Amino acid sequence: MNILILGGGGREHALAWAIQQNPKCDRLIVAPGNAGIAAMAECAALNIEDGGAVAVFAEENAVDFVVIGPEAPLAAGVADRLAAAGILCFGPSQAAAALESSKAFTKAICDASGAPTAAYGHFTEAEAARAYVRAQGAPIVVKADGLAAGKGVIVAGTLAEAEAAIDEMFGGSFGGAGAEVVIEEFMEGEEASFFVLCDGETVLPIGTAQDHKRVGEGDTGPNTGGMGAYSPAPVMTDAVCARALDEIVRPTMAEMARRGTPYRGVLYAGLMIADGRPRLVEYNVRFGDPECQVLMMRLGGQVLDLLLACAEGRLAEARVNWSDDHAMTVVMAARGYPGAYEKGSVIGGLDALSEDSAHMVFHAGTAEAGGQVVATGGRVLNVTARGASLAEARERAYGMVDRIDWPGGFYRRDIGWRAL
Ligand code: AMP
Ligand code: GLY
Repeated sequence: MNILILGGGGREHALAWAIQQNPKCDRLIVAPGNAGIAAMAECAALNIEDGGAVAVFAEENAVDFVVIGPEAPLAAGVADRLAAAGILCFGPSQAAAALESSKAFTKAICDASGAPTAAYGHFTEAEAARAYVRAQGAPIVVKADGLAAGKGVIVAGTLAEAEAAIDEMFGGSFGGAGAEVVIEEFMEGEEASFFVLCDGETVLPIGTAQDHKRVGEGDTGPNTGGMGAYSPAPVMTDAVCARALDEIVRPTMAEMARRGTPYRGVLYAGLMIADGRPRLVEYNVRFGDPECQVLMMRLGGQVLDLLLACAEGRLAEARVNWSDDHAMTVVMAARGYPGAYEKGSVIGGLDALSEDSAHMVFHAGTAEAGGQVVATGGRVLNVTARGASLAEARERAYGMVDRIDWPGGFYRRDIGWRAL
């Protein structure tokens, strides 16, 4: 098969790496890709949020299957455009992608399906929002309704912070994403991510993970897109997974189908678990980044069969082959991230690393310049390893990190501390 993956981060490098191991994959193209992906697959320049352009490219290149990595093309309706052109595609429709692109939509689905989540209010103007937080008290969580690249959530410890967040959102700092605001009860507990495939009817769990969102060791400092992750998440016991499926995921999928907008793709449920009871924090309609990197490391080439079964509505006959292993990824980021950072610093030592089914450096923000790999983003490398235990996976991952020569970068040394 000819396969096209949309995206250019560590998530897409990991997807490409796993998909390419499957003998069904003949030709692999990633748009736009990055320097790491270019070493293993074809990269193509393409506006991946333009469904028409993606469909034309797919037809010109005899692409049999398109895998959509990030949320922006999904929210822009690229999956719908490909479906209309008769091109097989992994990723939900624009209507189903509202589970990520609108927090108010997700809350309404939770209300309709009875899925446990934080109590909330939904506001279209600041005064009513301020009155609500004053009535509820702090801590409280203020969220821009729309997509805000992971920056639209403020966990406010005080009323003053909550009111400042409301003013900022309605003041336009998040653009259209902040025109509506959801304000939520602060939930306590341990967070974990649960990944399932859904073909509109059948739900198939494909793994759990935990990430580290804060930039600093000990989970301190500002939020980032994620500084590292590991899989499985110990808090996601079989009992918690079963409750999450029965109480949250399946009712959501049933409600989406009932509304005539069945969900097809990977659903990433962000959960808060307290006393063995999971509650929904948020949905994402794509793989997490960097959570995907640890999932791909554990699943390997079977991923292509699973994504195909999902896209073709055959999940009822699909099986996941688990090995009892663990994976960890350590994110190396450019100094200054998540604030301002420099681009263009040279990364050395990558060629000397031996990569295999248990050791991979996925590239997140790199380019090739004059024969060297240079950093082009905030999160730049995802150093990923697998082992029989989480401790072994960690040892292998940091063993690789230590051999990478990148003075312009930094990383956390304590990924996995909670689980270890
Ligand atoms: P989200 O983008 O909705 O996942 O929010 C980003 C992060 O904010 C989550 O991963 C949580 O750590 C935190 N968060 C969001 N909503 C809540 C909530 N209701 N209670 C506690 N923490 C939350
Ligand atoms: N790592 C969090 C996310 O992908 O949204």
